[in-house]
Amino acid sequence: MRILFVGDVVGRPGRNAVATLLPKIRAEREIDFAIVNGENAAGGAGLTADIARELNANGADVVTNGNHVWDQRQFLNDIELLAFAIRPINLAPGNPGRGWVVIKDVLVVNAIGRTFMAPADDPFRAIDALLEQLGRDAPRVRVLDWHAEATSEKVAMGWHLDGRFSAVVGSHTHVPTADPRVLPQGTAHVSDTGMVGPRDSVLGVDKDIIVARFRDGMPRRFEVAGGPVQFNSVVIDVDESTGRARSIERLDQVIGEE
Ligand code: FE2
Repeated sequence: MRILFVGDVVGRPGRNAVATLLPKIRAEREIDFAIVNGENAAGGAGLTADIARELNANGADVVTNGNHVWDQRQFLNDIELLAFAIRPINLAPGNPGRGWVVIKDVLVVNAIGRTFMAPADDPFRAIDALLEQLGRDAPRVRVLDWHAEATSEKVAMGWHLDGRFSAVVGSHTHVPTADPRVLPQGTAHVSDTGMVGPRDSVLGVDKDIIVARFRDGMPRRFEVAGGPVQFNSVVIDVDESTGRARSIERLDQVIGEE
């Protein structure tokens, strides 16, 4: 089974790139299942039901989230309407939506880290508890969108789940890392997949705004940048009978270059 994981989609440029490239990659690379992180898909912050449905229509079997999940307030109500959209499993009790879903016999979980991020419940414990809860009913093929800032925490989760998940794929930093590998017990890992968003930017945001903010520390409205768009993803090949990953490789493209 070939699974595509697509990094954080940033605003309209990111959504347009998904619309252009995802159906094409699915066909060309014979992808069976695709997961797209949508937490920055609405104007660079948060997600709406319409945008989630658009990502789904363009080939995302599951849309995952992160720390920006509630930036668009209406999504607090709308997430429950979307069977294919999940939010981090380790948000405090009382948050709407759910942190995991089984679609096409694939378990997809979303979790957020706690290092250099807003407080959240223990993600390690939350995932252990989920696996215990699902027990023998858990599908063999299991993917975690691990939305975290610190590479140390991201690598640690890979080791924590080695042999228990098919893939632990990083999101959130928007910067792709060069460390995809299959860990010894069969878990594919990458610290960060990257993003689908404007390349000549700072993490998708207009570079002049961010440079100025670093220099004078004054608040500014963030605007999604223009120009060529980078599409960062990973392709994971999984043995469906065991749930073990055979390989993980980066699939990165740039579109709209002069
Ligand atoms: Fe994030």
